[in-house]
Amino acid sequence: MSYTKINETTWNRWSNQGIRWSQPVTPETFAKAKRGDWDISLTTQVFVPKNWFGDLQGKKVLGLASAGGQQCPILVAAGAEVTIMDLSIGQLEKEAVVAEREGYHINIVKSDMTETFPFEDEEFDLIFHPVSNCFVADLEPIWKECYRVLKPGGRLLSGFCNPELYMFNNASKPEEIRLIHPLPYNPLTDFNDEERQTIIEDDGLQFSHSLETQIRGQLQAGFLLKDFYEDFNKDADYLLSTYFPLFFASLAIKF
Ligand SMILES: C[S@@+](CC[C@H](N)C(=O)[O-])C[C@H]1O[C@@H](n2cnc3c(N)ncnc32)[C@H](O)[C@@H]1O
Repeated sequence: MSYTKINETTWNRWSNQGIRWSQPVTPETFAKAKRGDWDISLTTQVFVPKNWFGDLQGKKVLGLASAGGQQCPILVAAGAEVTIMDLSIGQLEKEAVVAEREGYHINIVKSDMTETFPFEDEEFDLIFHPVSNCFVADLEPIWKECYRVLKPGGRLLSGFCNPELYMFNNASKPEEIRLIHPLPYNPLTDFNDEERQTIIEDDGLQFSHSLETQIRGQLQAGFLLKDFYEDFNKDADYLLSTYFPLFFASLAIKF
């Protein structure tokens, strides 16, 4: 079975369990967003600066690996025409549930981002790509596909993991934090079958990507980097976030 199929099964399970990344917006949050009062995140806590979006009214937006009913409904409320593409049917169903509840149309596409995106060249004005490329082994084809499906001048908003987080154990107390793995981290090659099975059950198959593959990868695909920030809010769910930023976000423009 391919590693993305394994991640698909894992995401369907997590979505069923209603983990943090799978909890759709409430009717109240959607109603507020319709009145222009909204914020969304590409990472965990820090909100994306509003000027990263530009004017969303009537814009064609692709939510890339962004399902779960969290960000796409807000982008719809802000006036965008949204397509959501994700691997997990469980996550996509949440988008359908919110769309039905709030009475709007969203184009729902089940697809694996490691494959050619099922869209025409230059179809979108903006891609919203929250933390998710940690579930993919090779980023280069994804940056290229993002470049292809964006219009000239189009925006790519991406969230991604600080690779350093894969160097440490999942400790619950500061005195238990240990260095356990050199970078890069690749569960397909670095562990035996039994260890890999435990990893799949706990975290899915995740890969640490260097900043070179994240940032230079976008530049090499043809993007220009316009802005960047670190998600360094202290987060009770992640002890390591007390020590260093666990997530980054970038705004790139198709040149
Ligand atoms: C952390 S969640 C991000 C979405 C979430 N709404 C949020 O708040 O950020 C990661 C998403 O990536 C999707 N995903 C993982 N691997 C994928 C792949 N190969 N192709 C497309 N989507 C993928 C998962 O199904 C999941 O919905």
